[in-house]
Amino acid sequence: MRKFLMTTAAMALALGVSQGAARAAENVEVLHWWTSGGEAAALDVLKKDLESKGITWTDMPVAGGGGTEAMTVLRARVTAGNAPTAVQMLGFDILDWAKEGALGNLDEIAAKEGWDKVIPGALQQFSKYDGHWIAAPVNVHSTNWLWINKAALDKAGGKEPQSWDELIAMLDNFKAQGITPIAAGGQPWQDATLFDAVVLSLGDDFYKKAFIDLDSATLGSDKMKEAFDRMTKLRSYVDDNFSGRDWNLASAMVIEGKAGVQFMGDWAKGEFIKAGKTPGTDFVCMRFPGTQGAVTFNSDQFAMFKVSADKVPAQLQMASAIENPTFQSAFNVVKGSAPARTDVPNDAFDACGKKAMADLADADKNGRLFGSMAHGHANPAAVKNAIYDVVTRQFNGELSSEDAVKELVSAVEGAK
Ligand code: BGC
Repeated sequence: MRKFLMTTAAMALALGVSQGAARAAENVEVLHWWTSGGEAAALDVLKKDLESKGITWTDMPVAGGGGTEAMTVLRARVTAGNAPTAVQMLGFDILDWAKEGALGNLDEIAAKEGWDKVIPGALQQFSKYDGHWIAAPVNVHSTNWLWINKAALDKAGGKEPQSWDELIAMLDNFKAQGITPIAAGGQPWQDATLFDAVVLSLGDDFYKKAFIDLDSATLGSDKMKEAFDRMTKLRSYVDDNFSGRDWNLASAMVIEGKAGVQFMGDWAKGEFIKAGKTPGTDFVCMRFPGTQGAVTFNSDQFAMFKVSADKVPAQLQMASAIENPTFQSAFNVVKGSAPARTDVPNDAFDACGKKAMADLADADKNGRLFGSMAHGHANPAAVKNAIYDVVTRQFNGELSSEDAVKELVSAVEGAK
């Protein structure tokens, strides 16, 4: 009897422990900045997918497009010794955390599922560190897009602008129609997103030398002055209330016909879709004039942090779920992005999604695919933030184009 009691107690203890372990193993805590309507709808696809596999989700949203605020919160969490299971992250930030030794290892699952063969090299350079998989890429976004209200474009003659001059003519027409020509959100990362496209519109080589190579002569060139002059021109088409406006509220202005166009990455499409709008009928997606055929990309990846052993199984299941081709299609259709895998069929995607996938493949093949400066795929955060600062001050009229060029050279030199 005594023996039996002890056994029962031991069993209860064992059961308690294993239940605790099972609970931890079935949960993922996820830090992200997907808080707009379209983003939340996409996130829900991931949450539901994991829930269907018995994994519960602890949500850690940190609002703020581009993820600057999320990265600050993350730093505090890790410093406190309390890293989340998985964190939405961009390019060089992933490598920075890997360098600090904070990330886990996905090699086994990546090998079993053959990720090497289906995830393009442009993404792998950020999903791997020292030859080991540390992050699971969810998507590929790109920043050199225009989102135009179709009715406004029709009133302006219906032709998609193919050059800088045609773009300006379209904006003048929008002004004459009595709407705000450009729906802008005056936040540094949004100004920088526009700058990605403007710099690329002055040539692939120019973009590469300026933002990828950080070549001082290019950063300080007359052409860079021209890029800032173009920013000044575009600034003259925004409304008085643009300062600090969230990007999704700027998208809403185009959706509602209060503004003509938004320059934004293809997460904007998620807002149009969420509002029940159709490409070609309600809105038009096109590449920034002068950048056709080239793509400035960024990829959201879930960086997997080092967590206690009991939490690793759920972490690996999450990574596996993200790379599943069916999930890749379902998620990216809602998010506005292209899949992170090259073998996902485009059938379920709308016209803009199909274009995003085709543009990406072509740009990659033709050597015209470049990491987005604004979204952490060209440089580490220190350099990116130094560029943000100059771009924003210039866009807000605090610096002339001449001074912005000089400041850009010294800010980048100081941050390198
Ligand atoms: C991310 C997108 C996100 C956007 C706005 C970008 O940096 O890659 O997934 O939708 O920021 O929040």
